[in-house]
Amino acid sequence: MSAAATATARRLPPMVDQNRISQVWQVTQAQNQIFDRARAKYGDTFGLSLARGQWYYFADPADVKQIFTSPPTALHAGKGNEILATALGEYSLLILDEGEHMRQRKLLLPSFHGEKLAKQTATMERIAEEVVGRIPKGESFVVRDMAQDIALEVILEVVLGTASTGTQHDRLGEATRHLLDWIAKGYRLAISTVLGPRSRPVKRMYKPALAPLDQGLYELIAERRQATDLEEREDILSMLLLARDEDDQPMTDVEIRDELVTLIVAGHETTATALAWALERLTRLPGGTERLHEESLTEETEYARWVSQEALRLRPVLDFVLRRVMEPIEIGGYQFEEGDMLAPSIYLVHRREDIYPDPLAFKPERWDGVKPGTYTWFPFGGGVRRCIGMQFAMAEMEIVMRAVARAGILLPVGPKEPTIPRFITSSPKRGGQVRFAF
Ligand code: HEM
Repeated sequence: MSAAATATARRLPPMVDQNRISQVWQVTQAQNQIFDRARAKYGDTFGLSLARGQWYYFADPADVKQIFTSPPTALHAGKGNEILATALGEYSLLILDEGEHMRQRKLLLPSFHGEKLAKQTATMERIAEEVVGRIPKGESFVVRDMAQDIALEVILEVVLGTASTGTQHDRLGEATRHLLDWIAKGYRLAISTVLGPRSRPVKRMYKPALAPLDQGLYELIAERRQATDLEEREDILSMLLLARDEDDQPMTDVEIRDELVTLIVAGHETTATALAWALERLTRLPGGTERLHEESLTEETEYARWVSQEALRLRPVLDFVLRRVMEPIEIGGYQFEEGDMLAPSIYLVHRREDIYPDPLAFKPERWDGVKPGTYTWFPFGGGVRRCIGMQFAMAEMEIVMRAVARAGILLPVGPKEPTIPRFITSSPKRGGQVRFAF
């Protein structure tokens, strides 16, 4: 059978009937109405014509489950995440697939669980108190800026083990901030989407933005290689320096650099945005910040957790995750082939009325006695690619919210904030602007 005949024979989801440039623009600009309209018109599965091929979106949890539990040989997340390759590099956990991905993931996972997480939460508590203490009373402030200060400080300490004072630490912090602000400009994402993240012009465009962080990290790696106390150190950089593969070879500088940038970038921007949404939404809920304030004066943390879960449901930081099809696969009665992109839609599943009654309302109490479902609440993705920082991020959200709430009752500032894109994330327009009532 010819390729054309095969293509016409397979059953595919309906395609959104709209010009391609407009589709790329809406998706990269976080104009999520495109998804709402498509679901209303075509149902739970539909296709968009985006970068180099068709992207199929899924809003049925049964299909999401199938995608997340498919073997890593059939669906590649690394290829789905390739838009990040220019900044994170080819050895990033987000970019690797199959065996290489698993090896690297197993190496990193213990750094984010159990005893390690308990120590990290103590770091979060200390840094949150410090930063919240500096918030000027009586003036409005931007939650994302404050949360970014905290999250960046925490991640640098946990990942690099640099003391929170010192020029090296400050320089790396500055370089990270600079890189993220640079990347955040929406049109850069559109350029990378169209030309490809590994194309020469895109690599050239990124180079100056990456240079200061790379330089700082390579210096730190060289310095730490000389350290004699690696075994006793708690940071992830030291752990990576000690790691050996099956041939007893250490990781190269480039491999380590890619993993560090991945953790620093993935580990703080997302959490800061999630916190910005959580407090932006909560301040608009009558009685919401009062309840959080009261709870923060006790040992109880239940309400803070509901607020985090509800914010990540209604305003997920990432609207979808991606998998590239590597071998033919049937999902929901449709047949996909190599090269197709599958996108479990966090945004659409989280707004399903049959799962979340009154889905557009921000209601933290809906989580009272309810455990988030693996395939109905997935702001951290799923399967073998689920975010390794999930517990870390949830702990940080809770700790920062409680620290802010202990300092007073928050009020909203200005009208409710619409969603704008920050690179691949969806953020509140003014970063979550609030002020203390007293
Ligand atoms: C609220 C905060 C966060 C959100 C919403 C978030 C979301 C996500 C999502 C959606 C994915 C892709 C999962 C998939 O493809 O199925 C992911 C992957 C990842 N995240 Fe997070 N994340 C957050 C915080 C963090 C933190 C704090 C860290 C590290 C300290 C981190 C490190 C990573 C890494 C390394 C991956 C790649 C995992 C893999 O491919 O195996 N993230 N995250």
